[in-house]
Amino acid sequence: MIWFLLWREFKLSIAEIVNIFPDKKVFFYDKQILILENLEKTEILEIAKNLWWIIKIFEVKKLESKEEFLENLFLEANNFESKFNYAINIFWNSKTKLSELLKKSKRIFKEKQKSARFANNDLNKNLSSAQIINNKLLTKWWDFNFIASEKQIFFWKTFWVQDIENYSKRDYEKQTDMQVWMLPPKLSQMMINIGKNNEMKDNIYDPFVGLWTILIEASLMWFKNVYWSDISDRMVETSISNLRKLKNTHSLDFYFEIVKQNAKFIHEENILIEKKADLIITEWYLWEVMTQNNISEKRIFEQRERLKELYERFFSWLQKLNFSWIIIICFPFWELPLSNSLPKGERTKIGRYIYFEEIYNILNKYTEIQKIFSDDLKLETKVWSLLYKREKQLVWREIFKLKIK
Ligand SMILES: C[S@@+](CC[C@H](N)C(=O)[O-])C[C@H]1O[C@@H](n2cnc3c(N)ncnc32)[C@H](O)[C@@H]1O
Repeated sequence: MIWFLLWREFKLSIAEIVNIFPDKKVFFYDKQILILENLEKTEILEIAKNLWWIIKIFEVKKLESKEEFLENLFLEANNFESKFNYAINIFWNSKTKLSELLKKSKRIFKEKQKSARFANNDLNKNLSSAQIINNKLLTKWWDFNFIASEKQIFFWKTFWVQDIENYSKRDYEKQTDMQVWMLPPKLSQMMINIGKNNEMKDNIYDPFVGLWTILIEASLMWFKNVYWSDISDRMVETSISNLRKLKNTHSLDFYFEIVKQNAKFIHEENILIEKKADLIITEWYLWEVMTQNNISEKRIFEQRERLKELYERFFSWLQKLNFSWIIIICFPFWELPLSNSLPKGERTKIGRYIYFEEIYNILNKYTEIQKIFSDDLKLETKVWSLLYKREKQLVWREIFKLKIK
């Protein structure tokens, strides 16, 4: 069995894993860990670089007693003739303290006169991905995980971690004035992974190109042919030149086509959709950025009205064109602070959520909302959508998986 350590927004992590491994059975999950059955380490290693919502992946051994971890650790250390470096991490609400495990391990190595050193700087803290990588705990030595519940204890080695430092370098020299509406790369990666399936060919389409986050990520992950359109000449032009640059500087091998097109009239030049797209992954505007000072029910309502009109047309044309593949799409929802009139420091943290109610009618009219999780997982979602929130923002995203009726 393979154990995945999930991000704080664990439902998004689980959505990604279960879609990428549709044939594997979920043995267990909670907010922190998901365990898959019948999955080989090699199967994961091949594609792990495309899993973005997983912090680390490890295998475990079941221990009969807590002390058994020392034996395992010591046996492993003996495989190393020279000095052995390691780290220990602890998960679940066990009564055991990490510092206790570290101190015990230090003692045993001393007693047995084995040269070893743990990499945990703070005796009470698990290692970050960067610390694991920087200490060579994947390539040369090992990172261990001790997982104890009330009844059971597990222990063994990490075999993959998310390279977070490298991740933050994935900045494609985008123009900073446009960043406001940029779809976070991490979210687009998750959307790609919940949209992808093995029957698809290699073609993906985004009708609102924007900063091309989705399609760049798609081409780096699974898709060889990426198709775009956008209403703005500027977006189309800058995308073409930026993409050429990107392809050259990073020696990337993908084909792209970008056209100018209003998504309200997607039927007019439907070459991209009709003949080529296997999958649409997209986000239109969340519309205006709203702050604590200017958000109001009236403004939210006006934005819903404007967005509604576009989506009504967009989906009705997709239906007329018989678009039969999956669509992954984000819509906005808002947090209206409860006490907007109070001075900043006194405002309550969580406000009232206002959803884009009109879109639900449009979706029900033209699409079948796809379940992101199978029923037996018993993971609650909002009308089968996933919610993505970022702190300190008032406009958030609701993500749907759809098929045109
Ligand atoms: C927020 S961006 C989309 C984000 C983008 N999907 C990404 O990956 O970063 C919105 C884009 O929609 C485009 N747009 C606005 N109205 C449109 C319409 N009616 N048809 C097509 N594109 C439109 C804008 O020019 C802008 O580039």
